[in-house]
Amino acid sequence: MIAVMIGSADWLFRQGFTEYLQQVEANRLGFLISNLETTYQKQGSWDFLQNDQRQWHEFLSSQRDKDIPPPDNRLPPPDDNGFSPEDYPPPPDALFLGNRLRLLDANHNYVVGAHFEEKPIIRALKVNKQIIGWLEIRPNEVMTDELATTFIQQQKKAKYLIGSLALILSIFAAWLLARQLLLTIRRIVSGVKALAAGEYQTRIKANGHDELGQLSQYFNSLAQTLQKNEVARRQWIADISHELRTPLSVLRGELEALQDGVREPTPERIQSLHSEVLALTTLVEDLYELSLSDAGAMNYHKENINVTDIVLEIQQQFVSRFASRGITLREISNPHIQLPVFADARRLYQLFSNLAENSCRYTNEGGFCEITLYRTKQTVIVTFQDSAPSVPQTALPKLFDRLYRVEKSRSRESDGAGLGLAICKNIVEAHGGTILAYQSQYGGLSIQVEFPLLLE
Ligand SMILES: Nc1ncnc2c1ncn2[C@@H]1O[C@H](COP(=O)(O)OP(=O)(O)OP(=O)(O)O)[C@@H](O)[C@H]1O
Ligand SMILES: [Mg+2]
Repeated sequence: MIAVMIGSADWLFRQGFTEYLQQVEANRLGFLISNLETTYQKQGSWDFLQNDQRQWHEFLSSQRDKDIPPPDNRLPPPDDNGFSPEDYPPPPDALFLGNRLRLLDANHNYVVGAHFEEKPIIRALKVNKQIIGWLEIRPNEVMTDELATTFIQQQKKAKYLIGSLALILSIFAAWLLARQLLLTIRRIVSGVKALAAGEYQTRIKANGHDELGQLSQYFNSLAQTLQKNEVARRQWIADISHELRTPLSVLRGELEALQDGVREPTPERIQSLHSEVLALTTLVEDLYELSLSDAGAMNYHKENINVTDIVLEIQQQFVSRFASRGITLREISNPHIQLPVFADARRLYQLFSNLAENSCRYTNEGGFCEITLYRTKQTVIVTFQDSAPSVPQTALPKLFDRLYRVEKSRSRESDGAGLGLAICKNIVEAHGGTILAYQSQYGGLSIQVEFPLLLE
């Protein structure tokens, strides 16, 4: 960049400077122009010069610029070396311009002077504001003036000096910048290596608002996510083991008691053992289902369905089960509403029966449950609301976590593993919907499911 800059500046300067010198030279001819004009006025035409080179040269030689001192025509005195005055060359033409000038008449016809092809510098000759002719000067291509050449040389030197300084400065600046950038990149690289080695607690210093600073921040949040996932995974495995251990130890105790003859293998005992195994099977199946949906491997056969149909079916299925526990499952107030969605009917059935099952399980005798259907411009909303008891406000966001139960001891009795709502959440999200829990207006829990409406 510096080389290009200096090169072009040098070229431009040379061009401009040459032109400047030429113009200065031309302007110095002012006296010649006025002399030509006066002579023309006296003579009345250019005839006295027409094609007469000798006359022209004499005319030129007789010219003197008032501003330029006349050349020293006196011969120098003989010097010590014995040179006589005749040995010196004659004094030069006062203008040095004899062979570079040309005179044209008002109609641009040649009068007298040099012949040349180059584009001339032109000055007009006027008498009483009337053009009487043109003086053309052939521009001096090469700069002969020693002062001018020295000046140009000086300029060149200064430019090279400035260029070298700029180069040194920019190398230094680039080095500083690269060092700073490399430092951050090295930090990120070592961080990534540590992450790859499983050290999820790794964090790197993230300063600066540039792209590398942002990258460092993203790196840190990635490390944090990985760390959180790792903790969650360990917790998850611990929870599952715990969940499996309880029914297994019950089974083992019962079986050992039978083996030892402490208990009689009555049909009731065998029936109880069998239902324990069934509960265990359900738990394992739920876990399997969750892991499938986590891996994105759960199959969904989506089609255009009406959510109302599924909810009505659930309502009919559960009404007697609710009644047997002394709870009322209310009729749906708008059973003809059209709620078209693009969804898997079997999964939606599973979702709503999970919600109904919860309401049935976690509502006090004498209470009720109400299912409402609602349609907005772009969504379908289904809400399950029941009467007391509810869950504490702080527990609401955790309800959808795996294996989360509000009161472990109480739920144990009702055989809940705390997976139902986690499965519900997965199903809803697989349909692009949302699921929310809040306190219902009847003193119990309210679960609201929202799906995108299928627009015809
Ligand atoms: N309608 C409800 N009213 C009050 N509490 C509820 C209601 N539904 C859920 N809960 C609370 O939320 C917890 C989590 O529910 P979730 O359905 O995920 O698990 P679960 O019912 O205990 O077990 P699972 O559904 O796996 O058999 C329940 O243990 C219960 O304490
Ligand atoms: Mg449940």
